[in-house]
Amino acid sequence: MSKIILGIESSCDDTSAAIIENGYLLSNIIANQEVHKAYGGVVPELASRAHQQNIIPVVDRAIKLAGIKKEDISGIAFTRGPGLLGSLLVGTSFAKGFALVNKIPMVEVNHLQAHVLAHFVKESGKENKQPEFPFLCLLVSGGHTQIIKVNDYFDMEIIGQTIDDAAGEAFDKCAKTIGLPYPGGPLIDKYAKEANPHAFHFNRPKIKDLDYSFSGLKTAFMYFVRDRIKENPDFVKENRDDLCASIQFTIIDILLDKLKKAIQQTGIKEIAVAGGVSANSALRTAMYELGNQKNLNIYIPEFKFTTDNAAMIAITGYFKYLKGEFVGQDITPLARMPI
Ligand code: KG4
Ligand code: ZN
Repeated sequence: MSKIILGIESSCDDTSAAIIENGYLLSNIIANQEVHKAYGGVVPELASRAHQQNIIPVVDRAIKLAGIKKEDISGIAFTRGPGLLGSLLVGTSFAKGFALVNKIPMVEVNHLQAHVLAHFVKESGKENKQPEFPFLCLLVSGGHTQIIKVNDYFDMEIIGQTIDDAAGEAFDKCAKTIGLPYPGGPLIDKYAKEANPHAFHFNRPKIKDLDYSFSGLKTAFMYFVRDRIKENPDFVKENRDDLCASIQFTIIDILLDKLKKAIQQTGIKEIAVAGGVSANSALRTAMYELGNQKNLNIYIPEFKFTTDNAAMIAITGYFKYLKGEFVGQDITPLARMPI
């Protein structure tokens, strides 16, 4: 019998709903929240209000686009954490109400596991190349930067991670330093395209093992820009694109340096990347180049599965549904939730 899962994502500033049938994506609707742009970052209070406004229309559209009726849905999967508590509460509460009214089971999903498992979303008519276990996944988002050894769908081991800021945060904070609106990552990517990545040099952090650090780089970038503006008030205006290309090059270099070490240490040749920063065009190119050089199989999600989306929640929920891992109406969201 067909298993149809409705997935709900509301951990940060995107409200999303998706329908997956037997592992195949039928719809994936995302409502971005423009309201945060003016504040230079996500304002938690505004995020939860926007989720409240968006959730019913987003779910409604996902169901209609999938061409199903709500009575056809076998189970509902929702992001339990990690994320902003007020935002998570909206998705969790919606899932409880929906499960109760439609008499279907509920499945809790870890947002980080879901980013990794986004690689297993299948779409009809597409090639759907999926990594084989065990694989390494570089998970790079606004809140996390981790190298994960994925032994199985729900057997994930963090072998390296940031000790301070995440890579996405580094993109966004450096972007803010040069006056770009939030989220600055995609804008850095855009302005870097035709520019010189070697125009400015920034030191790499010296961190042990497979761990990362980005807070020193962010501060160094801030001081560098501040000092140059003192000499020339138009420095940023005149060098915006080269600044973007140089900071992007540095962040990617740091990310790949530890990933290469992880590949060497584990001997694993199946390499994936996931999370919002995996939308970065230069990172995607660098990953494929690394794959060619070292004879690795590289897996990069389609753009729509890189940043927060409910398709990844629905596929993770689908795998848990098949295992019968359901939760009750007393479930509460978790701001912190390890992978
Ligand atoms: O996975 P995600 O949507 O949310 C979290 O779970 O954090 O990741 C959002 C992060 C933001 O920091 C954003 O600037 C970054 O992903 N990002 C990018 C690009 N697209 C999104 N960073 C660099 N280049 C991009 N093209
Ligand atoms: Zn995310």
